[in-house]
Order: sequence, then C-alpha cells, then structure tokens
Amino acid sequence: MTEPTARRLTLGALVHGSGGHIAGWRHPDARPDGQLDFAFHADLARTLERGRFDALFVADVVAVRGHQLDSLSRTGRAEHFEPLTLLAALSLVTEHIGLAATATTTYNHPFHIARKFASLDHISGGRAGWNAVTSAVPLEAANFGHDSHLEHELRYHRAEEFVQVVKALWDSFDDEAVVRDKATGRYYDPSGLHTPHHRGEHFAVRGPLNISRPPQGHPVVFQAGSSETGREFAARHGEVLFTTQHEQGAAQAYYADIKARAAAHGRDPAHVLVWPGLSPLVAPTETEARRRLAELQDLIHDDVARRLVQDNIGDLDLTDHPVDGPLPDIPATNRSTSRRDPLLKLAHDEKLTIRQLAHRFAAGSAVAGTPEQIADHIETWFRSYAADGFNISFPYLPGPAEDFVDQVVPLLQERGLLRTEYEGGTLRENLGLPRPAARDRHLQETGR
Ligand SMILES: Cc1cc2nc3c(=O)[nH]c(=O)nc-3n(C[C@H](O)[C@H](O)[C@H](O)COP(=O)(O)O)c2cc1C
Repeated sequence: MTEPTARRLTLGALVHGSGGHIAGWRHPDARPDGQLDFAFHADLARTLERGRFDALFVADVVAVRGHQLDSLSRTGRAEHFEPLTLLAALSLVTEHIGLAATATTTYNHPFHIARKFASLDHISGGRAGWNAVTSAVPLEAANFGHDSHLEHELRYHRAEEFVQVVKALWDSFDDEAVVRDKATGRYYDPSGLHTPHHRGEHFAVRGPLNISRPPQGHPVVFQAGSSETGREFAARHGEVLFTTQHEQGAAQAYYADIKARAAAHGRDPAHVLVWPGLSPLVAPTETEARRRLAELQDLIHDDVARRLVQDNIGDLDLTDHPVDGPLPDIPATNRSTSRRDPLLKLAHDEKLTIRQLAHRFAAGSAVAGTPEQIADHIETWFRSYAADGFNISFPYLPGPAEDFVDQVVPLLQERGLLRTEYEGGTLRENLGLPRPAARDRHLQETGR
C-alpha cells in the first residue's frame, strides 16, 4: 500500500499530575503536588507545546472512583481539577496546543456541554476538544441523584441523542450570522439564527445556544468506546479515538475495524484518527530504562497490587492472599468471561504471582527504552497502520515528559514524521480534520 502523502503522525498527551503509572506519584522525582498546582500544569503544557504536540487531554470521572479505601488512598487518583476550568486557564499560557477534556454524556446535560466547549473554543482561538464518553464508573450515579448506574445500552442511546443535540446547538448561529454592525444597529442577522426545538427520548432542548458558532465549527470530538456499541458510536461521531491495544496486531485489527465502520457511516476514514496509548520511559540505555520501570513497579503497594488484579479480573477477593503467591482458584461466573479468561490463562501459563500480574496491568502500554527505540516503536506502529498517532501517558511527571520532548521528538522530526512548527491555527487544522459546515439542520426542523 502506498503512503498517502497527507498522512502525518499526530500526538496527544494525557495530563495528570500524579502521572500515568499507578505508583508514579511516589517516584522520588514526581510532583504529585502538581495535581492542584496551576504553575505545574502551565509548565507541562508549555513543554508539550515545545514538543509540537497536537493536544493535551484531561480525563475526568465525576466521582472518587471506588470504595476500597485501603488501596484507593494509596493512589493519586482521588483529586483533580475540573477539566474545563483548567483548560480555560491553560489556553492563556499556550498558543498552539489543542485543549481536550472528557465530559460525560451520562451525567451532564447537552446545553451545558455545548455552551462550555463553545466557550473554550472561542477563548482558545479554536483549540477545544471534547471527549464524549459514556460513564463507566457506577459511583458517578450517586452524585447526581440516581440510585443505580444507567444500563450500558441506555448510556449509549442517551449519548447518541446528546451528541446530536450538542452539534445542533453549536450550529445555532451560522458562521457569519453575528455581524455586530454598529451602523445598521444589527448585532446578528436573524435569518442566520436557527433554533433546534429538540424533543427526543432523553432531552427536550429548545435552544438556540447563547454563543456564536465555535471557531472550529465544532470542537474536535474525541471518543474511547471499546464495546460493540461503543465502537459504532465512536465510528459515527469520534474524530480522535483512544484505544487501549498494547499489541501491534490487535491495534492493527482495531484500526482496520474502526476505519471500515467509519466508512460504512459515510465518513472519510482519514478523518477518524486512531490513537492507542503509549507510556514512554526514556533512558540512555535499554537496561537503564528497564531498571527505571522496575523501580516504579516496586513502588506499587501490596494493597494496590491486589486491587489491580481484582479490578481487572473481577468476582474475586484477594484480601487474604499473599501477593507473592499464585492466584486462588476462581469460581465459575455467569458474567461475561471474554476479558477474564485470557487474563486467567496468562496467569496460569506463565505461572504469575498476584504481584507479577499486577505489574503487567500497571505497565500497560509502557515502552521503556532508548530514544531511538521509542521513536522506532512509534514509527513502526504508524507505518503499519496500527496508529495514526498516540495518546501519551507519562508514567510520572514532569521528568519523562521533558525527556520525551527533548530526546524522542527530535528523532521523530528528523524522520519526517512529526512537524517542526505548528502549521495550523486550530486543533482541527493541526490534526488535518475538516471544519464541519453549518448545514446539518435535521434536528433543527424537528418539533417545530
Ligand atoms: C485513553 C482513554 C481515556 C478515557 N478517559 C475516560 C474519562 O476521562 N472518563 C471516563 O468516564 N471514561 C474514560 N474512558 C473510558 C471510555 O471512554 C468508555 O467510557 C468506556 O470504555 C466504556 O465504554 P465501552 O463500554 O464502549 O467500552 C477512557 C478510555 C480510554 C481508552
């Protein structure tokens, strides 16, 4: 297959003060206090911009995720800034980098979300991105007056309507409708204002939105669903897709699958960017890089190790089991076993202890190596259509981010994979995504 000339590597970075590795916050050089320190985030954003990243991304869950205080209280996952507040502030100390955040479709309302991301897009000069997730953490329900979490298919049903309403609200004003013409006394052209009048199964939203069309038309839509319904939703609406594949073959299969689904929905597959996760740990030699990763793994507390295994396998209580012993026999379950069975097989075949299995989960998409090895990994996945780019999660911060920008980015640039200067003004332009025309009026006609 010949390489389309326009195809170019894109990069995003997950920004979390305590780092991507579960024990990253305990590393001697980590800055866990940075989590609630704006100066820390500002420095990190500028570092990523120096590395010509397309976007930084702030994940979000609207709850402290878990009851298991023994293990939870040993991770840095219980506190973080409200993402849009942080991104609005970061827009003032950066010029080019995209600013993306999660806002759940399960426990929000479309009007609020359309308005907030439109505002961020205006404030940042067209750099906003919205990760439109369905909530997967049941504890979020309890923070919004619900006794139970919305069922999976219903969450996606709601998400579908949610995204359509948000897009219709973003299109409330035509691009040129707000003229602010002092001479004629006309602030906006009334024929360029469209009221959605939406009445659906989940939402009734009259509209229009009280802010003019975002500079990007629509802020870039990110998505990360991995279930069958999630993939369909992502293929319909997502423009940057996060995936969790750690193996090149699995990543290639996901890549081909999601591009085919996007094409089946009438979309240009080139306008759906696939970003697997990558957690790079750079060192002068491979041995040193591996030593550094092992050092991080050793910082995982026993309670956290047990919890990692329990959460990944499910239906199992490891409280009284030694972490350096094998997994206990697992009783049969009625629940879906498609995820659990391969994990149990892995533990059995390789005779892994609970701790060793926890280390596998914690390592996730870690690639520890020399700058050349990490650049090779990125290039191989990109050229073999396993990835259009990467969602980079640094194991701890800020050191590994600085190392990546100073040592790996120049190699990617030398190889012609990564830009040396930002060429576009907006996130869409940098990502090579088209600006949606303000023409989708189907929702705006309903209910009139
Ligand atoms: C890189 C990445 C980032 C994610 N960020 C969030 C997040 O910030 N908040 C959230 O609730 N879910 C997040 N998710 C979870 C997914 O978006 C999705 O909600 C979850 O996988 C459930 O959908 P599924 O059942 O279709 O897989 C993330 C997933 C990935 C791979």
